[in-house]
This record gives sequence, C-alpha cells and structure tokens, in this order.
Amino acid sequence: TFVVTDNCIKCKYTDCVEVCPVDAFHEGPNFLVINPDECIDCTLCEPECPINAIYPEDDVPAGQEAFVALNAELSREWPVITERKDGLPDAKEWENKPGKLAELKR
Ligand code: SF4
Ligand code: F3S
Repeated sequence: TFVVTDNCIKCKYTDCVEVCPVDAFHEGPNFLVINPDECIDCTLCEPECPINAIYPEDDVPAGQEAFVALNAELSREWPVITERKDGLPDAKEWENKPGKLAELKR
C-alpha cells in the first residue's frame, strides 16, 4: 500500500486524489490519508504530490513509520475525497517543514 506522510500536513494540495482508480483517499481537516484496504499499489498518486508526501509502505522516510498505522486508522474515520480542491491557505509556508505531526487536526 501507499502512505501519506508528514509533509502533507498543513498543505493538503489534493493533486493526488484525482488519479486514484479505487478512491482510496480520505480527507481530514489538514491532512489526507490512504485506505490500505483499498489501495492497489498502482503508483499513480506518488508523482502527483508536488511536495513528495506519498511513499510506498516499505519506503517511508526514517522517523515516519507511525504514518503507516495513522493512514489505516484515520481512513476509517474520514470521508472519501475524489476531487481536487485548493491547498490550505498557508500551504506554501508549511511546505517541507519537518515534524508537522504535532499540527495534525483530527
Ligand atoms: Fe490509489 Fe494507486 Fe495511490 Fe494506491 S497507489 S492510493 S491505488 S493512486
Ligand atoms: Fe497531500 Fe500531496 Fe496529496 S500535499 S493531499 S499528498 S498532493
């Protein structure tokens, strides 16, 4: 499965959601996640993210392993998103800031 990681938080550009053939993306207030039970590993979403927040489960950056379980957990709670929308208002300022997990809203 593919996993959305730290860099998506506070940016949420949503370019990733439109290419998913199985509608695996779920949206929260300032982050998106992938449902691991739906993802078919097609790889289409990974290059769509302008800030490289999406990784294969086996290749998430060091220190971000918790995002594997977080995607599974939050995808059960959040609604599906299939259409692109504007990124969050301060997205530019938050691009590539480390350790955004503390900013995650549920
Ligand atoms: Fe959807 Fe493919 Fe990305 Fe999995 S890898 S979330 S199936 S676009
Ligand atoms: Fe997040 Fe990138 Fe998608 S910022 S919403 S993973 S395009």
